[in-house]
Amino acid sequence: MSYYVTTPIFYVNDAPHIGHGYTTVMGDVLTRWHRQRGEDVWYLTGTDEHGQKVLRRAEQNGVSPKEWTDRLVESEWLPVLDTLDIANDDFIRTTEERHTLGSQAFWRDLYERGEVYKGSFSGWYSVGSEEFVGDDDVADGEDDDEGHKVSALDGSRLEWVTEENYFFPLSKYADQLLQLYRENPDFIQPASARNEIISFVERGLKDLSISRSTFDWGVPVPWDTSHVMYVWIEALLNYVTAAGYGVDDERFDRLWPADVHIVGKDIARFHAVIWPAMLMAAGRPVPHRVFAHGWLLVGGQKMSKSKANGIRPDELVDVFGSDAYRYYFSRALTFGADGSISWEDIRARYHAELANGFGNLASRVAGMIGKYFGGELPAAGAPSAAETELQATVAEASRAADEAIERIAPQDALTQVWRIVDDLNGYLTDQAPWLVAKEVNTGGGAGPQAADSASERLATILNTAAEGLRVLAVLLNPVMPKACASLWDSLGAEPTLGPLADQRIDDVATWGQLAPGSTITKVPSLFPRIEDEDA
Ligand code: MSP
Repeated sequence: MSYYVTTPIFYVNDAPHIGHGYTTVMGDVLTRWHRQRGEDVWYLTGTDEHGQKVLRRAEQNGVSPKEWTDRLVESEWLPVLDTLDIANDDFIRTTEERHTLGSQAFWRDLYERGEVYKGSFSGWYSVGSEEFVGDDDVADGEDDDEGHKVSALDGSRLEWVTEENYFFPLSKYADQLLQLYRENPDFIQPASARNEIISFVERGLKDLSISRSTFDWGVPVPWDTSHVMYVWIEALLNYVTAAGYGVDDERFDRLWPADVHIVGKDIARFHAVIWPAMLMAAGRPVPHRVFAHGWLLVGGQKMSKSKANGIRPDELVDVFGSDAYRYYFSRALTFGADGSISWEDIRARYHAELANGFGNLASRVAGMIGKYFGGELPAAGAPSAAETELQATVAEASRAADEAIERIAPQDALTQVWRIVDDLNGYLTDQAPWLVAKEVNTGGGAGPQAADSASERLATILNTAAEGLRVLAVLLNPVMPKACASLWDSLGAEPTLGPLADQRIDDVATWGQLAPGSTITKVPSLFPRIEDEDA
């Protein structure tokens, strides 16, 4: 099975903020999870470098657009992938030759199929969102925008454009699109985005102007180099150009269609309306799914650089680490809905769920195996009801977590995994191995036989707890790869079970995988407490 997942390609007018980080981390969690399902995953992200928004930003900074984008990609957009511990397979820049060649090949295909025509365009254009805005969405500006028109969609300032342009006959695809949404209810998710898209298409579609001729920062239209492609049309093509469109057919057929495009809800229309119509026009299959997530709200407002409430990913990662960052965004928000984030909430969850809930569990178990068994994993004796119940929770929760990832609901997957964390903590409290250990030494006053059975019981409890930690390392690795790597080390698992990333989700609940006799070591705290001055 292959699984091709993408993020939007990001404008490089500025540095990344945690809104961009959100999309990218979620894509990465899906990627790592699907890899642990044994699927052949391809995770693509990248940068959207053409168009007027980036061009003007470069001009304001007194450099050429190419210099500007090279500088930002090198100093900001590539490093953020390290900061967030992203395991992408590819990174596409729309200024790369493979993208130019692929998008020109796509345009030629459209042209040959009679899907491009020349016409004259006049209307309102938003450089801020790089989009043509229909009359219904034009409003009078206020304050700084006094005397200008603005977009009612996002408040960006509008400019009047009159040009001879190439057009794409989007209007004729309305019925085919509606049929696509009807026949594939999962094509656009969640339901709120799906409903919005359906009613938008039902209102009728207009043909789309797809080239610009008043500036040249873009990919030239192959048969008429006095035009560059409209930046959105060119940007959407990254999903196929990165897969080898027009350049490497074999690779393209292997990867395409994409399984899921993860996007913010602001750009759902581009992905769920224009993009499938373009693919239909080119006679290519459409992606399986477009998943539109909500806004990160800070202080109740959509976070963005222009509102000055933009937070850089490293501001959080420097304090909490990349694992906690990834955990927080996966667990605390409902993917698909808007969600408020706050420093206090991150800090509280860090301490309650990660440091006390998970980290402490790992160090306690390793500590007790060190103390009572000299750091060698003991073999388990016959399970009692408590062990059988724990195993049943693991089986059920891991299945439910997998099913949640299938629905692209990482928050639900983590809720399931936390049933295991909580049950395991409860199991230790109930079984109180430290009390059983006392009986091992004294036989509880009942002689050597009682001491033997206490010792077997102690071995069973700690073996079970270590198995529980193995399960957690495997299931949490997609979200917190660094902490889980140390846990895997601590469990001495690699020599017998192999690398953590190769452990399969569907096999995780099979009990007794850690080899008795493995060396269990105490690791430095997975989630050290954070002092008040830091956070
Ligand atoms: N370049 C286009 C996308 C082209 S895809 C073919 C674009 N770029 S963008 O830099 O503006 O980033 C868009 C994406 O960043 C959003 O779709 C969303 O995934 C993410 N986010 C930007 N701000 C965000 C929030 N405040 N909250 C959540 N996600 C946000 O649009």
